[in-house]
Amino acid sequence: MVKKLLSVLKGEPAQVPPVWLMRQAGRYLPEYRALRANAKDFVQFCLTPDLAVEVTLQPVRRFDLDAAILFADILLVPHALGQKVWFAEGEGPRLEPIRDAAGLAKLAYRAELLAPVMQTIKGVRAALSERAALIGFAGSPWTVATYMIEGQGGTDHENIRKLAWSEPKLFAQLMDVLVDATSSYLIAQADAGAEALQLFESWAGTVPAGLFERAVLEPTARIVNAVKARHPQVPVIGFPRGAGGWIGRYAQETGVDGIGVDQMTDIAAIKTTKALQGNLDPILLLQGGDGLRDAARKLVTAMAGRPFIFNLGHGVMQPTPPGHVAELVAAIRA
Ligand code: CP3
Repeated sequence: MVKKLLSVLKGEPAQVPPVWLMRQAGRYLPEYRALRANAKDFVQFCLTPDLAVEVTLQPVRRFDLDAAILFADILLVPHALGQKVWFAEGEGPRLEPIRDAAGLAKLAYRAELLAPVMQTIKGVRAALSERAALIGFAGSPWTVATYMIEGQGGTDHENIRKLAWSEPKLFAQLMDVLVDATSSYLIAQADAGAEALQLFESWAGTVPAGLFERAVLEPTARIVNAVKARHPQVPVIGFPRGAGGWIGRYAQETGVDGIGVDQMTDIAAIKTTKALQGNLDPILLLQGGDGLRDAARKLVTAMAGRPFIFNLGHGVMQPTPPGHVAELVAAIRA
């Protein structure tokens, strides 16, 4: 039996759409918090295969989802490039920011630092049900670069926009470094047993139009090409969050098999034969009840007959009651 998520990514519609959720593993689950409490450092937590396997499987076990997503973080790539990455309690990620050519010159990708991730993938594959496919992932270059340059999440990304406009050569070099590292990392994930791959472009929404080709379309296309050259059968999902107006070109020019869609975008209006994934507002999952069930049914109906993967428009919010996820999955499968 071909797993449903994988047949949908080949362009075949499913009677009942496969479902998984971004950030399906995490602090909204008490069993996650219990394991996390014993691990001080989040990067080391991600790089401890026994813990990462267990945390990856927790939501799949609890909700019988159609996919597991590898438990890791997009900031493991800057870590493997030699940048200092840490997670300040209650503040989100922090990095020692890179702002100039000297900082960039120091970066060198050490694949061996991410070898534990490949152990995690093998461990998850050995334990997964027949239903669930394992999705590996990485951040896309622009999104990872925003963290590397800004040193934190933020919202306006002024420093990277300044760099991209005023020092195009340096910016291109940074994109090259990230394209190469991310391609190797994803190829290694597929080698280890990841059955699909997702590229998170979480900050596509802050890319100025005049930079979109250089910052998003071209780097993404280069990664997809590199991965497909080694693993032509492993589908790639791209998630250009906040860039609804670019979805047509993103679908056509990057080579992705599926497109993740945020909750701001009218998913049913997107004209493509490729698989679409999304896009329930995470707030509805937080609230639960009839509002959640009605919106879920409406979305399933709107996407009927098309290759569609049910997901949120962004990650599960931390205060979400786990029971709401069970209600959502039941509503989709009813
Ligand atoms: O279940 C899953 O989705 C798999 C694991 C996963 C994590 N991060 C675990 C995590 C995935 C796919 C990511 C991707 C990620 N990481 C993205 C892209 C998706 C998105 O949300 O847009 C981004 C931007 C990051 C960077 C990052 N990592 C941030 C902004 C934070 C802090 C968020 C917070 O809630 O504090 C992290 C930390 C992080 N990554 C946590 C988890 C479960 C929380 C850490 C903790 O337990 O303290």
